[in-house]
Amino acid sequence: MHVLKVTGGSRLRGEVEVPGSKNAALAILSAVLLAEGPVVLHNVPDVSDIRDKLNLLQKLGAKVERSEDTLVVDCTEIVYHEADEESVRPIRTSFYILGPLLARVGKAKLPAPGGCKIGARPVDYHLKGLALMGAQIDLVRGCYEGRATELHGAEIYFDFPSAGATQHIMATATLARGVTVIQNAAIEPEVTTLAEFLNRMGARIEGAGTSVITIIGVEKLHGCEFRVPEDRLQAGTFLLAAAMTKGDITVTGVMPEHQTALVNKLREAGAEAFEGPDWVRVHSPGRLKGIRVKTMPYPGFPTDLQQLMAAVLGTADGSSVVEETIYESRIGHVPELNRMGAKMRLEGRSTVIDGVARLKGAVVEASDLRAGAALVLAGLAAEGETVVRNVHFIDRGYEDLEGCLSRLGADVVRMEATEWERTLTAPDANPI
Ligand code: EPU
Repeated sequence: MHVLKVTGGSRLRGEVEVPGSKNAALAILSAVLLAEGPVVLHNVPDVSDIRDKLNLLQKLGAKVERSEDTLVVDCTEIVYHEADEESVRPIRTSFYILGPLLARVGKAKLPAPGGCKIGARPVDYHLKGLALMGAQIDLVRGCYEGRATELHGAEIYFDFPSAGATQHIMATATLARGVTVIQNAAIEPEVTTLAEFLNRMGARIEGAGTSVITIIGVEKLHGCEFRVPEDRLQAGTFLLAAAMTKGDITVTGVMPEHQTALVNKLREAGAEAFEGPDWVRVHSPGRLKGIRVKTMPYPGFPTDLQQLMAAVLGTADGSSVVEETIYESRIGHVPELNRMGAKMRLEGRSTVIDGVARLKGAVVEASDLRAGAALVLAGLAAEGETVVRNVHFIDRGYEDLEGCLSRLGADVVRMEATEWERTLTAPDANPI
């Protein structure tokens, strides 16, 4: 168990190259089950969600080799179609292997998925899509048991453009007989990336990146080589760190169009933002002003940056409202930021913020991945020392966050929780 000790006050400055996307890589690491032959993936982030997903694949019989940020995954010989609670629970996308297993081996048994606790996160769209393609799936004592003698194409409409359901059904449909059309599909960049990856393996997918995706089923998919694009949410995290600390940060190796919503909201709050072909820079010359933010599916403001934006607006001049429309309870950051002196209250799905001049360091707990990142950002600008506990949540999706922030001038140190606790009881910890 680790903590991050953040000493606030530095203005962050410099350039940071953004690593590969966790969410794109997780979706790809479900689709690899469809291929006969090795898949070589570059730029794969070394975060715990990815390690958990690889562990799950290995338990099914996949061969996995890792060398720095390159992975070779070979799912030619899938020996098992059942996964245990321990391998499935930690991550949400473990569930997205259900369809690929049905397509490859005709049966699958998986416990219900886990992931960050930010809402009910049902899987009904996934189940509806698979059923329309001819799968029979029953929930038996907390496990989804699926069978499919042959999957066939179908017309599938989602009530909401779910990123996960779009990715899961699109991948599964590549090996279904005939044509599948997904209506009201998600248009998140991670969906487009997955379609590019599947097409590289021999799939025939058209329309990814629009709300209607057409998949023409093929007999087989083969191995391929693919580079995972940058993590737009990590890029956003660093841009928000610039805004939080009145700093000046350039993220490189990114697609500027993925940051449009964030950049425009930061400009509205008074920050300066600039962009080039593969970089975005945010410079915050002084205190920002309060604004309204509403999360929406892509290209709207991403739910994954809502908690970090709330931390930034916590010290803006005037009041702000951050409305979360995707998840019911992505709110774990609010009581913790209030411990640091923020003035935030919840009204329905909105966080109403009265900006304070400065946050104060405190011991705070991450409740989920992005809440943890929000607390680290708050600590960067707070007076004194902030200790963020439950760092394992941050490690799910950020590789060496403390290293990246330190290179930009932050004072962030990772410590064993026990080592930090000892400093509290050390003789000179509370001088009289
Ligand atoms: N939904 C349903 N039924 C379904 C599927 C989704 O009602 O069958 C609802 C969800 O409950 C939610 C909404 O649809 O209210 C959107 O969920 P979506 O399926 O789009 O989310 P996801 O695929 O489970 C991915 C990311 C999340 C990110 C969302 C939204 C991964 C591994 N996770 O989740 O990322 O917040 O899309 O963009 O790709 C994160 O990285 O911190 C994270 C949580």
